[in-house]
Amino acid sequence: MSAGIPSDHYEPKSGFERWLHRRLPVVGLIVDFVTLPTPKNLNWWWIWGIVLTFCLVLQIVTGIVLAMHYTPHVSLAFRSVEHIMRDVNGGHMLRYLHANGASLFFLAVYIHIFRNLYYGSYKAPREVTWIVGMLIYLAMMATAFMGYVLPWGQMSFWGATVITGLFGAIPGIGPSIQEWLLGGPAVDNATLNRFFSLHYLLPFVIAALVVVHFWAFHTTGNNNPTGVEVRRTSREEADRDTVPFWPYFVIKDLLALVVILVVFFAVVGFMPNYLGHPDNYIEANPLATPAHIVPEWYFLPFYAILRAFTADVWVVQAVNFLSFGIIDAKFFGVLAMFGAIIVLALVPWLDTSRVRSGRYRPQFKWWFWLLAIDFVILTWVGAQPAEGIYPYIALAGAAYWFAYFLVILPILGVVERPEPMPASIEEDFDAHYGPAAHPAE
Ligand code: HEM
Repeated sequence: MSAGIPSDHYEPKSGFERWLHRRLPVVGLIVDFVTLPTPKNLNWWWIWGIVLTFCLVLQIVTGIVLAMHYTPHVSLAFRSVEHIMRDVNGGHMLRYLHANGASLFFLAVYIHIFRNLYYGSYKAPREVTWIVGMLIYLAMMATAFMGYVLPWGQMSFWGATVITGLFGAIPGIGPSIQEWLLGGPAVDNATLNRFFSLHYLLPFVIAALVVVHFWAFHTTGNNNPTGVEVRRTSREEADRDTVPFWPYFVIKDLLALVVILVVFFAVVGFMPNYLGHPDNYIEANPLATPAHIVPEWYFLPFYAILRAFTADVWVVQAVNFLSFGIIDAKFFGVLAMFGAIIVLALVPWLDTSRVRSGRYRPQFKWWFWLLAIDFVILTWVGAQPAEGIYPYIALAGAAYWFAYFLVILPILGVVERPEPMPASIEEDFDAHYGPAAHPAE
């Protein structure tokens, strides 16, 4: 797939194919792409890439049609969405596909991220795939946040007010940044317009990043459940560790996609508002604050971390004292929220273990599953009111998140004694399916 090197899998047959291949080897590029030698022991955790790709296409296609009927103006936005729901042919289905498509997108991305965390897929040489993935994730969050503002319901308005208010907490320059983001002193028509424009633009930025993401893991090859690399000493050995992506993994991935889509369409058809907030069916009113402002579920873990660090937490007090009052509780919360994403991005350099896959790391496994549970707890507590026992749960959850990346992973890599690993992917495959099951032969 490298620039200038024609594909060795593709032999142009007809005259036209040869003519095109000499001028633009695009068919060879596609053939190379789909015949990528893929470790033959990939398990079901590797199917989420195709679900993510499907979600991106679904969001772009439904979004473009929605935009044909939507009006980005504060006095018309809410009504134009109602118009889509009631008057446009199939409009309610289009909107429900788009809204629930965002949820499936985030569900898939979280499973994809945790799969990578378990199997150490972020480790060398796949750091660039990981970092580009993190950029995709950030762009997804920005896109989803701005998209939620567009229906101009109560949660749209107040969610935008709270989140852009976070930037206002930055000492000194904060209020100017906030005003620049909003296009004025408060969430208003200028905000809605720029959010609509960016919400339309960002999915294409994500699509470009996905191409780079694919390019990166096509360069290194996929990781696999053993974390043992494909043998590259000879062509024969490499062939015994892998099968071509087409048709083997295409068929497997499509089967998984169909099963997931059955559930997805059941949600879209029978309970399309389950994940939404009823207050967003009330038009935005700057004079009436809702009792609880709750973001969409996929933001809740980080929202919980944001709210966990209140002024009575000793770390916050110590930092406040040491920074001569510049870092107050609100700014600390903002730093913690962004910090939680930054430590995740830095995991390739924080994990010191020589062993890639969690399968052969007896202690790591426990800490990892605790992190997964922690993430679910943070999601749950992020939706609870910030009173009673909840802030303590959020604080414990936030503390574990940071401890996992900054303390546990660096130390574990040094103290843990890994279990024996298979010598090759082929050995692992044979141990599971028997030497007879060699699809490529
Ligand atoms: C639009 C979003 C995304 C799409 C379409 C996508 C797609 C894919 C695909 C198709 C693969 C290869 C096979 C598989 O694992 O299923 C992959 C691998 C990978 N992705 Fe993503 N991804 C996305 C987001 C992310 C994010 C947010 C991260 C992490 C921050 C990430 C990190 C990785 C890593 C480290 C690998 C290598 C795993 C391996 O080699 O098996 N991806 N991605």
